[in-house]
Amino acid sequence: MIASSSAFDAVVWGHDMLIRNETAGDIPAIGRLVTEALLLLPQSTGTEASIVETLRAAGALVLSLVAEQEGEVVGYLAASPARIGTEDGWGLIGPLVVLPSRHRQGIGTALMAEALRRLRATWRGAALVGDPAYYGRFGFRAFPGLSVAGCPPEVVQALPFSGSVPGGELMHHPAFGLNQQE
Ligand SMILES: CC(C)(COP(=O)(O)OP(=O)(O)OC[C@H]1O[C@@H](n2cnc3c(N)ncnc32)[C@H](O)[C@@H]1OP(=O)(O)O)[C@@H](O)C(=O)NCCC(=O)NCCS
Repeated sequence: MIASSSAFDAVVWGHDMLIRNETAGDIPAIGRLVTEALLLLPQSTGTEASIVETLRAAGALVLSLVAEQEGEVVGYLAASPARIGTEDGWGLIGPLVVLPSRHRQGIGTALMAEALRRLRATWRGAALVGDPAYYGRFGFRAFPGLSVAGCPPEVVQALPFSGSVPGGELMHHPAFGLNQQE
């Protein structure tokens, strides 16, 4: 990172990438990017773009960050409010996607670093469901008792920012359509 302004402004990453909040003009590109990038994932449901739209419509996008290179949206990260067990205050990260032609250039890392920097200010911690081989590098890990019904326990991960020990079900926003029991 070479330059940063206030917490909610854009951050310049490397020599040609901007990490910034979404604008209304980004919304169609975000939808296309989420759909295209997640086609690669066998566990993709094909509904991820509409989850983002539902979160946005519900005012539940705590973060909606785009990575921009040469005017093009090449990466996207969403975060929404979640509960773990009875504990509010967790920021659920996902989806995180990078344009397939730009994989392995550090874009996902830049989006995640900026998301964690912002969430740290006011959230208890971050949580997500994803590949531990990727998310472990950011400090995410599984915890005993941390779960999402129907998911292998190793993919349900959290990164507490303070002393919280996450235990219990990771309750997603209803936009995810998981029908989790209250
Ligand atoms: C996962 C994803 C977001 C990573 O973005 P990216 O910009 O390619 O990642 P980065 O370039 O920052 O990668 C950082 C490191 O992670 C590694 N990495 C990337 N994808 C990985 C994966 N799926 N599993 C394990 N390691 C991975 C890279 O090799 C790199 O390692 P290095 O620093 O040792 O070279 C991107 O591959 C993607 O959009 N995949 C499809 C959607 C997806 O799986 N999203 C996550 C679930 S919502």
